[in-house]
Amino acid sequence: MHGRGFVFGAATAAYQIEGAAHADGRVPSIWDTFSATPGKTHLGNTGDVACDHYHRYEQDVALLADLGFDAYRFSIAWPRVMDANGRLNQRGIAFYQRLLDRLDAHGIGAWATLYHWDLPQHLQDRGGWLNRDTAYRFADYAEAMGRIFKGRMAGWMTLNEPFCSAYIGHSEGRHAPGLTDVRYGVEAMHHLLLGHGLATIALRAHDEAPVGLVANVCAVTPASDSAADRIATERAAASANHWPLDALFLGRYPAPLRDLWPDAHAPVRDGDMAAIGVPLDFLGINYYFRQVIASDGAHGFVVKPLPGVERTQMGWEVYPDGFRDLLLEFRQRYPKLPPIYITENGMASDDAVQAGRVHDAQRARYFNSHLAAVDAAMRHGVDVRGYFAWSLMDNFEWSYGYEKRFGLVHVDYRTQARTPKDSALAFKQFLEARRAAA
Ligand code: FCB
Repeated sequence: MHGRGFVFGAATAAYQIEGAAHADGRVPSIWDTFSATPGKTHLGNTGDVACDHYHRYEQDVALLADLGFDAYRFSIAWPRVMDANGRLNQRGIAFYQRLLDRLDAHGIGAWATLYHWDLPQHLQDRGGWLNRDTAYRFADYAEAMGRIFKGRMAGWMTLNEPFCSAYIGHSEGRHAPGLTDVRYGVEAMHHLLLGHGLATIALRAHDEAPVGLVANVCAVTPASDSAADRIATERAAASANHWPLDALFLGRYPAPLRDLWPDAHAPVRDGDMAAIGVPLDFLGINYYFRQVIASDGAHGFVVKPLPGVERTQMGWEVYPDGFRDLLLEFRQRYPKLPPIYITENGMASDDAVQAGRVHDAQRARYFNSHLAAVDAAMRHGVDVRGYFAWSLMDNFEWSYGYEKRFGLVHVDYRTQARTPKDSALAFKQFLEARRAAA
């Protein structure tokens, strides 16, 4: 893989790193509301300050450059750049202009996600993603971003992980807006994907940079050979992997979802599936772990953790082969699959600074084995164009707060000191060797 043209970057998201929650006219998002609600996040942690990246972006971009990355995936905070009346907030926009100027100065390509879960709260007050109108508001926002940042992005990503927004946010309630009805998850997914399709057209009206969507996927394996466990695993795959991807590339929602959630119905209107299926320039894939699946005895499934396997601080199984297998599966399943960028991959560990160093050997191993898995998929013909590590630095890990550390760079939240971990230094060496060989 690592040939000429293959992009290597690190990724972040606005609410997880920026802080400055009340600065320069930013309006509240659903994550401000959710994290301020008692019991929703670890120790009540919020993104109010986070990594204070809003004020420290110059240092953070310099770190990216020092580590040798040629690309940066970040997200634009919708609540920073538009007010409750849909008017542009120039002070919020100016922040991203400054960030882009710094990236340009270091020759780092900018890959911007439009929606990494921070829906403006005023839209949630009108129903959020359960309201079809939000898809149109999202397209308006995309149109404005395409116009303002025309020519400045290496790539655009509309949605980050619609599964998490839809299902974890509306069916499980572990994420904002914290709703707990499977029917809501199915409705929200449809409006998210409709918003994605409309936003793709809106971006292209102004800008030529490639446009894609970022989907999280998860390896699933049946716990046994029984028919019940195999059917349960098909249903798990339908919800974890095929739900948005079938809609994008096959023009329909996966049939096993009807068995899994018999009472839930996507509010599809004429023309919606065509709008959702607008051809993409690339697909972003986020991969972290595998789940072993068993039947729950009814029409659903349960996750059956395997004993004795390597796990991360999240409890997630380390399973690089699943990454390769999923990439191969998607190539088979989706004749219309566009080129792929790995937009997130990484792991959390309980890291601490000791004498100026952070010894995170497990993370360096994780990156190696997962890059090898991507390489294997490419050798089998999957068209992968780039890889973004999650994450540039430790940050606000949603409901887990600051406890879970995914960074290449350690952040001390008391002092905001940044310390590149051993895995970052290993990544830097790897990128230097690759440059030398090119
Ligand atoms: C993904 C999210 C990202 C981060 C990683 C660990 O689901 O896109 O923001 O939380 O997981």
